[in-house]
Amino acid sequence: MNLQLTEEQIAVRDAARDFAQNVLKPGVIERDREQRFPAEEIKQLGELGFMGMMVDPAYGGSGMDTVSYALAMEEISKIDASASVCMSVNNSLVCYGLQAFGTEEQKQKYLVPLASGQKIGAFCLSEPEAGSDATSQRTTAIDMGDHYLLNGTKNWITNGNSASTYLVIAQTDAEKGHRGINALIVERDMPGFLVGAKEDKLGIRGSDTHTLMFNDVKVPKENRIGEDGFGFKFAMKTLAGGRIGIAAQALGIASGAYELALAYSQERKAFGKEISRHQAIAFKLADMATQIEAARLLVLKSAWLKDQGEDYDLASSMAKLYASEVAMKQTVEAVQIHGGYGYVKEYHVERLMRDAKITQIYEGTSEVQRIVISRSVLS
Ligand code: CAA
Repeated sequence: MNLQLTEEQIAVRDAARDFAQNVLKPGVIERDREQRFPAEEIKQLGELGFMGMMVDPAYGGSGMDTVSYALAMEEISKIDASASVCMSVNNSLVCYGLQAFGTEEQKQKYLVPLASGQKIGAFCLSEPEAGSDATSQRTTAIDMGDHYLLNGTKNWITNGNSASTYLVIAQTDAEKGHRGINALIVERDMPGFLVGAKEDKLGIRGSDTHTLMFNDVKVPKENRIGEDGFGFKFAMKTLAGGRIGIAAQALGIASGAYELALAYSQERKAFGKEISRHQAIAFKLADMATQIEAARLLVLKSAWLKDQGEDYDLASSMAKLYASEVAMKQTVEAVQIHGGYGYVKEYHVERLMRDAKITQIYEGTSEVQRIVISRSVLS
């Protein structure tokens, strides 16, 4: 793996950093407090090409590589993980899924507006009883000849209310188990589709996470992605790439907290000197810097493997597992370094600590990543 970033990758990273500092940072505390979705900011991200980063320009995307996407995700997540989860789901689950497995008609109709930032997408797999155990889908898509009749409930759906295109995973033939599952493209205005309650969350409070309900929604056959029964594999393949995005998000949350703690420790004085000059704090900073660098290498390796066309399932699970654990651990340390200031909203680190937790839960819990990794090392 070449560890030297290209000029283009550096330019993407710097553009994302500028956007995060200048556009996202000013309102981030207020959006978190009010649980307000960053609609205007996401629109601007779309105009800058960050919502369809890896999509072919022929379909409205920016044609960038996965390494650039991971770098941008890290920078945006340092400041606003609510904006970055919207960006991650749109890029790596919805746009990637459509680009890799959609028909030409599906790409023209759905991918182009999503990749160019005119519309937002959502990925709907989780259910009340099917989070980690994703094969246990209760939502049904009954084959009615020219359409599927969709019924059921999806939970904790990112972009639930802001999206207009939804990729919904549902069971068509229960006897076939995971081979009887399909992925369908559902439009927001299809009759019978309802956006339910918004979740009141610990972290990423600016993202709109909703329950979705499907009541006899007629989804045309041409909206099925892939062959009949491909839905579960579609979800697994798509999530493997999604885990690179969430690993990069976790990395950004950790490195954002570290940068704040480093700066604060060099300003704040106690017992006659800057607290960074006390070994208790200096050693914490050393551990933070080391673990964050290790997480960054895992994230970049998984992104690089994907760009090479090589298998990245194991690497993306390792990156997500490790980066999310570093995010949780090191945001707690960043709050500790800030002392009392760390516990108040104005200093940003308490929000990053709350945001970190979700990275150990969504797009596969840490336990799911360990299932994927242990199966691979034992096989
Ligand atoms: N690529 C292709 N195929 C895959 C695959 C992959 N990465 N992983 C599994 N499969 C295939 C298997 O080969 C198998 O197919 P065959 O029977 O034909 O061989 C089939 O899928 C079933 O696989 P498993 O037997 O491994 O399935 P399992 O029931 O044991 O589950 C699991 C494995 C890893 C735990 C999986 O269920 C999983 O990943 N669960 C977590 C789901 C998840 O990440 N949810 C997040 C929701 S989305 C989200 O969070 C978005 C957001 O808001 C930010």
